[in-house]
Amino acid sequence: MRQDKQLIRAPRGTEDILPEQIALHRFIEDAARRIMELYGYREIRTPVFEDSGLYARTTGETTDIVEKEMFSINAGQEGSFVLRPEGTPGVVRAYVEQEVYKVRKFEKFYYIYPIFRYERPQAGRMRQFDQIGAEAIGSYDPLVDAETILLAAAIFDAIGLGDYRIRLNSFGCEKCRPAYRDALRRAVAGREDGLCANCRRRLDRNIFRLLDCREERCKEITKALPSIREYLDDDCRVHFAKVRELLDANGVAYQLEDRLVRGLDYYTKTVYEFAHESLGARDAICGGGRYDGLVEQLGGPPTGGVGFAIGVVPTLLALKITGRDKPEAAVQKGPTLFLAALRAEDRDYCFSLLRQLRAAGVAADADFEGRSLKAQMRAANRANARYVIVVGPDERASKKFKLKEMATGKEEVLTEGALLSSLER
Ligand code: HAM
Repeated sequence: MRQDKQLIRAPRGTEDILPEQIALHRFIEDAARRIMELYGYREIRTPVFEDSGLYARTTGETTDIVEKEMFSINAGQEGSFVLRPEGTPGVVRAYVEQEVYKVRKFEKFYYIYPIFRYERPQAGRMRQFDQIGAEAIGSYDPLVDAETILLAAAIFDAIGLGDYRIRLNSFGCEKCRPAYRDALRRAVAGREDGLCANCRRRLDRNIFRLLDCREERCKEITKALPSIREYLDDDCRVHFAKVRELLDANGVAYQLEDRLVRGLDYYTKTVYEFAHESLGARDAICGGGRYDGLVEQLGGPPTGGVGFAIGVVPTLLALKITGRDKPEAAVQKGPTLFLAALRAEDRDYCFSLLRQLRAAGVAADADFEGRSLKAQMRAANRANARYVIVVGPDERASKKFKLKEMATGKEEVLTEGALLSSLER
């Protein structure tokens, strides 16, 4: 039988994260978890795939995500599913389906998990990427909007990416939007031919999508359009003023961005993005906002909600570009102890000693390739082991070992018992 030896590659827009790179990922995730929990957010895990109708109903049928970026799953007769293209709808679905609101009306969730979008892969943009998300569901209070912004800021500060810029806007609500929609229509009237085909097509169904189109010719037209903030009703205006007041009082700098509407349909009132200059045109490392209609839209009671998602890929890229991708806390520790076998006959003994050391909680390793003593010492060095012992017939007979500290060359003789009880855990 002919064997097909052609390499099978990872799908376009996905990546393998090898052990050397994991330390930096863990550094970011650990900081995010620690700070989320400091702020009272609790972890939630929802399915990787969901009913495709979920996103049509929430993210929006006329958004890029739903129109062209979802990966669908063939599930035969059982329905139509997609890999989650964002985290918010799944969390809100769970909140409604599990009737979380009956137990605690206000619940703060966080998640760190993969998201899938069929986008053109480019620097900082993948087809599978992790998001670190926060969703505070059950309150209309502007304090929560401000808290989510402080929370995202605290995470970026903790990982050494404190030089972000925050873009802030209010997208109003169902009540103030019709007047704004009319104003946009009037402003665009007669200039439709200058828009890209996508925007022309969406003009009637969802004119707001025009505001976040990335095509130059559309941007040229949208530059001159009125700002939603001129059309906010009293409730939205007061809410936005309060969010700004809270940010000002807590030393959070931001820029007001008239046309920030964030590309997803569910936003109401506050919307924001964190951007990092090093990333060029697609500079968003985090996006978020309020979504007061979402719980009700999915069959729950009227409920306020607000949240954000940090993109781990662009965040990592910004750290790399600015040379901040090797923080001390992200250095992977090697084993505490490496056992080098003097002769082949000593390997089984080493193997048993390894088991005991590990059972005692000591990170220990040994040679698994039958290499020479010299090669084993090189391996211990490469593995960044803190100590090494060489195990030969003398050591086995006396149960005494010469413990050598790799960095200093310092040596100390220890009994087997001392080895098991005194090494750093
Ligand atoms: P989003 O703006 O679509 O919002 O995504 C949030 C962040 O995910 C972006 O700012 C970006 O950093 C990252 N991101 C987006 N697409 C990609 C990609 N293809 N590759 C790598 N990173 C990417 C949401 O997803 C909302 N669910 C956020 C939210 C939560 N709003 C309220 N709660």
